[in-house]
Amino acid sequence: MIVVTGATGQLGHLVIAALLKKIPASKIVAAVRNVEKAKDLEAMCVQIRYADYNKPETWDTALKGAERVLLISSSEIGQRARQHRSVIDAAKRAGVKLLAYTSVLHADTSPLGLAAEHRDTEAMLRASGVPYVLLRHSWYTENYTSGVPAALAHGAVYGCAGDGRIASATRADYAEADVAALTAEDQAGRIHELAGDTSYTLTELAAEISRQSGKNIGYVNLPEAGYKNVLLKAGLPEAVAALLADSDTGVSITRLSPKASSNPWVTLKTPPFLPTSSPRRSTRGSFSISCLKARLIASTMVSLAIENVLTLRSLFSIHF
Ligand SMILES: NC(=O)c1ccc[n+]([C@@H]2O[C@H](COP(=O)([O-])OP(=O)(O)OC[C@H]3O[C@@H](n4cnc5c(N)ncnc54)[C@H](OP(=O)(O)O)[C@@H]3O)[C@@H](O)[C@H]2O)c1
Repeated sequence: MIVVTGATGQLGHLVIAALLKKIPASKIVAAVRNVEKAKDLEAMCVQIRYADYNKPETWDTALKGAERVLLISSSEIGQRARQHRSVIDAAKRAGVKLLAYTSVLHADTSPLGLAAEHRDTEAMLRASGVPYVLLRHSWYTENYTSGVPAALAHGAVYGCAGDGRIASATRADYAEADVAALTAEDQAGRIHELAGDTSYTLTELAAEISRQSGKNIGYVNLPEAGYKNVLLKAGLPEAVAALLADSDTGVSITRLSPKASSNPWVTLKTPPFLPTSSPRRSTRGSFSISCLKARLIASTMVSLAIENVLTLRSLFSIHF
């Protein structure tokens, strides 16, 4: 039996869908904090179990009989290490054979503020004695495509990433990769750095938005403090604005690409909004990624352009 935490989330839904292609629904448990939100998952015949990262006592029941667990990192920044401990401790008590954790690319060396909680969680896993595999995700492509309406409304993409290159991939691709590791043999102790197989700058992203929309959209590179200010004005809380600005600066420093790591790495598909010269798929990781479907984000971008109703706030409606 495989238990997936955060199953009502965007990645969680895609993971459940990918798992259903590989194993029977009767062997899948969706751990959720809001059972009402899981009606669609229930309709897929997976078992729904209540569990809240903030309630350690809920996890023993949620993980009962679990052989494998996918711990999808919590979305509550600042609370995550403590919350993840509840799951790891319960996994140990339950005798889980493999716990897969969705971490961040290069978590061990990343200068991003967001990486700290992932590092702490990875350390907890190492100390726990529970067999684990680390699925270190680069950025979601959707972090950027969700900002297209705002870019169109304001005539610019804003950031402080400079010429940093981003090797993002869609949530659907990460879900496929996560499930590949979760269902494979000999995964304990492995670390997979997961990222897109090509990278792009925010200048290139703005150029592509211009090309597809027929509007002139530039990239405005701000100092980190200036970008944080934009985020604050857009209504984000101070801590979140600071972390997102810090992350953008991190892009300029680290290049969110897997190649800097000595760990095995797996590349996912080319970001679909970029011109595809010669799409490349690597199997250099310890398992190969197959069935990565092209998604029609480009056409979504065009339809979003037509709507063009979202506010700047939507640009930042991502929660890490
Ligand atoms: N690599 C990237 O670019 C990137 C971007 C954004 C986020 N992330 C990370 O990846 C994770 C998954 O992304 P996502 O897009 O699927 O996020 P999401 O849609 O916000 O889903 C987060 C999931 O965590 C659940 N959750 C939050 N607090 C919980 C708690 N106290 N107890 C139990 N469950 C709780 C949510 O439950 P509810 O449905 O009840 O709210 C939801 O199912 C995020 O949580 C974040 O750590 C990565």
